[in-house]
Amino acid sequence: MEIVDGNKLDDGALTRLSEIYLQMWRPILDTELWECSTEEDMLGKCRKQFASRIEIFPEGQLAVLDPAEGVMGGLSTIMVSAMDEDGQPDYGKVEGKWEYLTSFGYIDGYAHDPDGNLVICYAINIPPEHHGKGVARALLHGGTKFAKDKGLIACPYTRPSGLDKYLKKIGFDPMQRDELLDGIVGEYVSMRDEHGRLLDENIGVHSHFGAEVVRIMPYSRPCDLDSWGYCVLMAYPKGYVVPLNK
Ligand SMILES: CC(C)(COP(=O)(O)OP(=O)(O)OC[C@H]1O[C@@H](n2cnc3c(N)ncnc32)[C@H](O)[C@@H]1OP(=O)(O)O)[C@@H](O)C(=O)NCCC(=O)NCCS
Repeated sequence: MEIVDGNKLDDGALTRLSEIYLQMWRPILDTELWECSTEEDMLGKCRKQFASRIEIFPEGQLAVLDPAEGVMGGLSTIMVSAMDEDGQPDYGKVEGKWEYLTSFGYIDGYAHDPDGNLVICYAINIPPEHHGKGVARALLHGGTKFAKDKGLIACPYTRPSGLDKYLKKIGFDPMQRDELLDGIVGEYVSMRDEHGRLLDENIGVHSHFGAEVVRIMPYSRPCDLDSWGYCVLMAYPKGYVVPLNK
């Protein structure tokens, strides 16, 4: 397994990353890319998004390549400024809507701030056949190492993808969304199962690797029904690198 950045991704790798993205996020992209009428259009849009990310911020676009398997997964990041008067991170200043944070997936000169203090890891794309093989670990090793080398903080901008399942399990009444949901999500992100693992897989993986939840953002990616539109901002400690080996 090799971790490479956007400077080393050829056309074939770019196409494969776009295919993985489309495969992984199909239900969300069917709505977000509503204007695409054919499969080819959809893939073309995803490809344009990846190409724009590589053009603007190649060092922040990581992929895991394997000589036999090809592209096993990718991580998309963007740099943003979110600081208080004392130069400390102010996570409340991070854009809370996924679309605006990423300029609708095409990070551009407005969304990406090369002088920012945070490296926001806003998409991890790993196809199901490569889950559980250490691909996320390798990608986050690369992302946190980049942040450490630049003196920045790596922040996963993740999704509580088990939320819908959990709400159904507890019989949550959708009509109570506005009064109760923020509180329930606040508790959900730190709930553990009988083995002591965090209930939510995505938050669990980042937490297992060393990050902590710093902000919960409602109405962040409305088309993400599994997560009820919520995204969760997490942060790795400054200077910390996710170890490549367990
Ligand atoms: C979640 C996901 C990114 C993990 O990627 P992966 O390549 O399968 O993960 P890895 O193999 O690198 O390992 C994940 C580690 O987290 C651990 N882990 C998994 N679920 C966990 C949980 N709920 N709590 C704590 N640790 C957990 C694993 O045991 C493993 O630990 P290890 O490296 O010490 O063995 C991937 O499975 C995936 O994309 N799933 C689809 C769901 C999704 O929404 N993904 C997008 C994320 S924005």
